[in-house]
Order: sequence, then C-alpha cells, then structure tokens
Amino acid sequence: MLTGHTMVNPSVCNRVQRQVCHTTPRLFYFLSMPELGVNIDHVATLRQARKTNEPDPVAAAVLAELGGADAITIHLREDRRHVQDRDVRVLRETVAIKLNLELSVADEIVGIACHVKPDQATIVPERREEVTTEGGLDVVTHRDATAKSIQRLKAAGISVSLFLDPDPRQIELAKKMGADAVELHTGQYALARGAAQHEQLVALTNAGKQVCDLGLHLHAGHGLNYHNVIPVARIAKMHELNIGHAIVARAVLVGLDRAVREMKQLVQ
Ligand code: PXP
Repeated sequence: MLTGHTMVNPSVCNRVQRQVCHTTPRLFYFLSMPELGVNIDHVATLRQARKTNEPDPVAAAVLAELGGADAITIHLREDRRHVQDRDVRVLRETVAIKLNLELSVADEIVGIACHVKPDQATIVPERREEVTTEGGLDVVTHRDATAKSIQRLKAAGISVSLFLDPDPRQIELAKKMGADAVELHTGQYALARGAAQHEQLVALTNAGKQVCDLGLHLHAGHGLNYHNVIPVARIAKMHELNIGHAIVARAVLVGLDRAVREMKQLVQ
C-alpha cells in the first residue's frame, strides 16, 4: 500500500479501486497527490441539535489541521441549519490553512463571503428541503445569478470554484464565467456500484480532463469515503478533495471508546 494511504486497509478496496491501483504509476501518484479539504459542517450539525456550544467546529478545525488537512471546508446555508455566521468569522481568524466557504448565490450570503474573505468560495446549489447538497449547480439555467456572484467574489479577492456535475456544457460555461476551479460532484459515483460505478468514474475522469484542459483547477467531493476515494484521488491532476461525512462519522466511532472510558472514570 502506498505511504499516503497507509491508514486505509487494503481490504476496503473494491473492484474499481483495485483496477485503478494497479494501472496508476507510483511516481505520478506521488507527484500529483490531491489536497484534502475537511468539511466540518457535521460537527456544527451535532452542536445545533442541542443549540449549545459543543462540539465546537473551531476546535474540530484545529484537530483536522493537526491531522494533516490542507483545507477546512464549511457551508454557510441560508437557513443556518449548521454553520453559523460567527463560526465563519472565528474560523477565518483561526484557520491557518486554506478556508473554503461553500455558499449559494443568495445576495446576503455572497455579501458575507465578500466581507469575511475566505481563501476560496465554492458555489453550490441550495434547496431548503434537501438533506445535503443533492446535485451540481446548473449554471446553464442560472447563468446570470452565478456570473454576478463570481464577479462579486473575485472582486473581493476570493478564488471561486463551482460545484458541477461531470457535464461538458456546465464545465465549458464555468470557464466562460471566470471560475478558477470546478469541483466535480461525486455523489452519483458514490451511490453507484459495480459496472455503473465504473461508468461514473469514466465520466468523472473525462470531465476532469476537460476542466484541466480549460486551465481550471480540478476539485471533487460529495459522498467520498474510505472505500471509494482512491480512484477519484487518482484522476489526473486532481487538486483538491472535499470530504466531510465519512471523516466525521469515523471520528465518532474511533473516538467513542475513549469518551466512554473518560466518563466512566469520573462517575466511578
Ligand atoms: N463538496 C461539496 C460542494 C459539498 O456540498 C459537500 C457536502 O457539504 C461535500 C463536498 C462533502 O460531502 P460529504 O459530507 O458527503 O463528504
């Protein structure tokens, strides 16, 4: 197993992964390791379930940084269901690595981003009823609103990424509208199995090539986990992966025994 992935048990590799593991030259892999953006929205979700002050996403960001994260990703939703305005301000002051703010094109939220100035803004679609971001942004339909948001964010000195499905028309337009990066939506890949998953990987690989050929940075995220991340990480010129749920879910499980032991010592 390669050094960068020693924490991943080889037994979790599925068929698609093994295929890619065996066909990717090692040297190229080392030269092109993607950055890891850790999405800490789920920590804020847990805090908001009690409307209290723990767990604190700011503490989570420090731990993620100590663990080797290259970026901290947060989504300030219009309904403020997890991350709050104060989190964004405090994280801007405390995060030493890249701060990536996911946001919709809502005027108010773009205004907050322009004021707080994260290093990067990732524009995502947002629907109140959704459990999480359910698909890529449709920049063909929402061209004017997206272009206006990109202009405002870039005028504030913020690098702009667009969260898109692996669709050539959407990617082409991202370039025309002045985006700096495209984050490919990996949700369909993550949900698919077997041959269907391989098809999704091919679509992501082709879209990734288009993104890079257009001179944009290539990012990917959504639904990536310890079982399915490797083939996506090995798409040529993959620059940044944003992963949240899988990392926070694993943290809960690998940390729960210690948390119980500490409480037990107190009550005994
Ligand atoms: N990238 C984007 C644009 C997202 O909206 C999300 C979910 O907030 C993620 C990545 C992370 O997805 P997950 O929590 O499934 O890893």
